[in-house]
Amino acid sequence: MRSLIAGCGGYLPERVVRNDQLAAEFGIETSDAWITERTGIRQRHIAAPGETASSMGAAAALQALERAGIPAAAVDCVIVATATPDSAFPATAVRVQAAIGAGPGFAFDLAAACTGFIYALGAADALIRTGQARCALVIGAETYSRILDWTDRGTCVLFGDGAGAVVLTAGEGAGDATDRGILSTHMHSDGRFADILHIEGGAGSTGGTGLLRMAGREVFRHAVSKLAAVVDQALTANGLAQSDIRWLVPHQANLRIIDAMGRKLGLPKDRVVVTVDRHANTSAASIPLALADASARGLIERGDLVVMEAIGGGLTWGATLARF
Ligand code: ACO
Repeated sequence: MRSLIAGCGGYLPERVVRNDQLAAEFGIETSDAWITERTGIRQRHIAAPGETASSMGAAAALQALERAGIPAAAVDCVIVATATPDSAFPATAVRVQAAIGAGPGFAFDLAAACTGFIYALGAADALIRTGQARCALVIGAETYSRILDWTDRGTCVLFGDGAGAVVLTAGEGAGDATDRGILSTHMHSDGRFADILHIEGGAGSTGGTGLLRMAGREVFRHAVSKLAAVVDQALTANGLAQSDIRWLVPHQANLRIIDAMGRKLGLPKDRVVVTVDRHANTSAASIPLALADASARGLIERGDLVVMEAIGGGLTWGATLARF
């Protein structure tokens, strides 16, 4: 049994804030040149007051289901990867389950920060392979604008809001002529680095602001070496080589990290899906949003080998190999 990727969808809030508006309208001591040169980010979407991880996640899920041609009633598992849930409980995933009219089944949230979508893909794939689910919605949904310290120019310029979703269905695939589906997911974490990227306090904590804190240079130092190692691990586990990769769909944090990964994998720039310029870093939503963007543009074709990778708070990092 394999998990086949049946469709992808995305949702972005209507409000777009360009880099130059951050300086002019938000009063942040920054510039378009500083942000663009260091990160590749040109703009971000910001959620409206009524928009939440569940409302955006549901919108992305409905688009993914429509593109897959699968009714919501067929969905028996919903996983939402998020660091910005609607509330500590119930899970954002159960709100999505109700909002889209999913069939009988189960729904839960998963917390692995920017690596959340990779972890969620790994969890959904395992549930499908073991027969506990037949049709899973894997969603990344974030409202980081609500956990940013808007007085900290080192972090508030980097993130945006949005949601992305992928529909996985149980199918044959392994061993057939196409060999389609999720080949494997590889997950890692190292809690010794918990403090270099974290939310200060929050529900269940005895104090703190509830806002995001990051030692940017420290995170950067870990990124490329850990991502390259986990992609290598995924290729080796499947007896594949870098030359087999058709598309890199990386977590969209920073263009310098994305470009470095493309170079490490020997991929030309037009084989790397980039949305960070338009979406900024949407954490767990960034990979499914990039997949939805690529699929809307008709980039990824049936049979293409796609590498997805991410690193984020935890530290957590991981990679998924999938043949579309
Ligand atoms: N505008 C203008 N100047 C700024 C801004 C800003 N928005 N932010 C910081 N600066 C200033 C600093 O005050 C500092 O000034 P100083 O030299 O006078 O003290 C100077 O710019 C350099 O600051 P650094 O923080 O050292 O800047 P750096 O070159 O490291 O770039 C960045 C910061 C872009 C965050 C970088 O460290 C990075 O890309 N890190 C990777 C982490 C990342 O992408 N995290 C995203 C979340 S994790 C993930 O998803 C992987």
